[in-house]
Amino acid sequence: MSHLRVRLLTLAACAVVALAATRASAQVADHQYTSADIEAGSRLYANQCALCHGPNGDGINGIDLRRGVFRRSVSDDDLARVISTGIAAAGMPSFRFQPVELTAVLAFIRAGFDPSGTAVKVGTPGRGQALFAGKGACASCHRVNGAGPRTAPDLSDIGAIRTPSTLQRSLVNPTSAMLPINKPVRAVTKSGTTIRGRRLNEDTYTVQLIDDQERLVSLIKADLREYEVGKTSPMPPATAVLSSGEIADVLAYLLTLKGGL
Ligand code: HEC
Ligand code: HEC
Repeated sequence: MSHLRVRLLTLAACAVVALAATRASAQVADHQYTSADIEAGSRLYANQCALCHGPNGDGINGIDLRRGVFRRSVSDDDLARVISTGIAAAGMPSFRFQPVELTAVLAFIRAGFDPSGTAVKVGTPGRGQALFAGKGACASCHRVNGAGPRTAPDLSDIGAIRTPSTLQRSLVNPTSAMLPINKPVRAVTKSGTTIRGRRLNEDTYTVQLIDDQERLVSLIKADLREYEVGKTSPMPPATAVLSSGEIADVLAYLLTLKGGL
């Protein structure tokens, strides 16, 4: 008996070490669910949820689990609460899942129902909003709902136009997620003035940008001596100032920004 217990303890210790090693090897593992979670969740979903929510997650009016459209929930905690306690009056049953099963179902939903996709964790929007204005210093560059500078893209509707995993990539590795239109530009006029800024629009002959003084500038390309589009994002990675849990909170806040939609 005690013999067996010692062996079990050793096994458990090995598992913990192995888990820690996997975590360390994958750079963003802390803010993501594992592919094993997603796959397990896919099976649980098919067995327990698809009956009502449908194979694509849009079987119930106003809810699209695959696309992350919920009536009330925003954070992963909200979803976990709904699944564990149900919404009896509305016909959503409660499920007595083990923590690993609950994690798996959340992972599958956050992966957009793609067993080989990535599933990012979504924290608490209220905390994220405080971090956006405070420690994360996001508000020093970004504008939201009419407040803040124009040097960086306005994020007022970002939650309606980007997925959680795209947003997460913007936060963790801004350069890798930078859209062509958001690339920084540097222009030198024939008279020798250098203008740096963010493109708003560009066609064959002209370019409109917001310069680093937040002025709207329109340039005729024929009048420029140099015109260069940068490849590196001016945005510092959020990982420089925020922990992975804090990034999940900021992500939750961004998902609530839907431009009044
Ligand atoms: C018997 C049918 C049924 C089953 C089975 C079921 N649901 Fe639901 N679920 C519902 C209904 C109905 C609602 C809508 C409740 C409402 O009016 O907001 C709902 C709502 C939800 C919501 C939305 C919460 C929000 O904030 O809007 C989530 C998330 C959810 N279900 C997840 C699941 C998961 C995960 C499973 C499987 C583990 C599951 N459901 C199984 C019927 C079901
Ligand atoms: C020094 C200024 C600066 C700071 C600080 C900054 N950003 Fe940015 N951010 C930018 C610029 C410039 C871009 C456009 C280039 C790019 O996409 O990387 C951008 C892009 C983004 C995008 C992608 C927009 C899109 O259209 O997809 C998101 C999301 C974002 N930032 C969120 C944040 C959050 C959240 C923080 C705080 C943790 C933050 N930023 C801090 C300057 C900044």
